[in-house]
Amino acid sequence: MSSAVVTRLPVPEYSKIDFGASISGVDIENLTDADFDVIRSALFTHQVIVFKNQGHASPKAQFELTQRFDPAATSYGHGKSLDAKRSILHPDLKTIPHQPQVQVIGNGFVPEYEGLQNIRLRHPHHRTFHATAIPDVDDLDFTRFYRWHIDAALYGLAPPVVTTLLAVRVPGGRRQVCRYDDGTGDELDVPLGTTAFVSGYAMYDALSPEDQELAQTARVEYAPHPYIWMSGAKSRSDGLGMVSEGKEILLDKLPAIEEDKIQVLPICWRNPETGRLAVQIHPSAVRKLHLADGTVIEDLAEVREIVHRLQRPGIAPPLVYAHDWEEGDLVLFHNRGVLHSVVGAFAEDEVRLFRQCNVAASHFPLGPSDAANAAVAA
Ligand SMILES: [Fe+2]
Repeated sequence: MSSAVVTRLPVPEYSKIDFGASISGVDIENLTDADFDVIRSALFTHQVIVFKNQGHASPKAQFELTQRFDPAATSYGHGKSLDAKRSILHPDLKTIPHQPQVQVIGNGFVPEYEGLQNIRLRHPHHRTFHATAIPDVDDLDFTRFYRWHIDAALYGLAPPVVTTLLAVRVPGGRRQVCRYDDGTGDELDVPLGTTAFVSGYAMYDALSPEDQELAQTARVEYAPHPYIWMSGAKSRSDGLGMVSEGKEILLDKLPAIEEDKIQVLPICWRNPETGRLAVQIHPSAVRKLHLADGTVIEDLAEVREIVHRLQRPGIAPPLVYAHDWEEGDLVLFHNRGVLHSVVGAFAEDEVRLFRQCNVAASHFPLGPSDAANAAVAA
């Protein structure tokens, strides 16, 4: 018997969030098989799971919980591609030497942590990634979603099933207003440095019947070496995909491309437990759209407009869960059922230290139908 207790997360009154739960009564450092059964079932039901007071958990215990969802998986979700200096992910992650599937992320200077010395962490700021930015004078009060994404290499390696994030150090709590800046007037009051989540299932449910049909039948082709490919381009102000200015790195300027590593994945991924369909697209890495009739849309601006049309309703303010981090929080999320984004801007002296872990999966996600799955396997 496990003493784990699963409780739905409280949500603000305006919220329409139907995901998220906390689990108490477990110690990540000493998980039993019975505990894990509860956690696994809760994960595929609630998508985002919060464990409080886990600051003592070792990088090894964090890795073991993460890997337990896919025991055949061993390497970090991005493999060694992070080493590529041109990758947009490169500056944001430091690898723990004795547990290389676990990365340190955060903000500010840290003299020593888990074998890493004198590390300078940088919380990603939207001004480095978006085509436009909030003026400096407003930067303390207002912020944006940095980049909505799935944790996935999207080239060669299969998308991780889950990701874990552990808050080791969290600077004190002011709040900011997260603006979409897309002409809608949408905005959201968020805790400083929140991680925002939206449900891919809610994203699917929000679509018109015609777009649900498109989402069930079309597939997305991702760019080769996507995080280098996109490094010249800039994001939309809502963090949901790139603007099209022809600034992507040309394919012949990328590292050598292995055709069999290019990924063409279903738009909808089926939940292995509930059978619900999630719209799961990494919008900034998208390059082409393959339609059911065999047509391939290659016009990047057109592809991005279609993808944005499918995803934007799913990030409306009432559908966003913005986690209010406290030290010791461990958040486990279903990387195949939610999108997430870094949010917020820290001052140089605000030290934040997090550990992130995911592992490239041993299998690709389930598509909406057996036919879609066969196409991925082919
Ligand atoms: Fe992430």
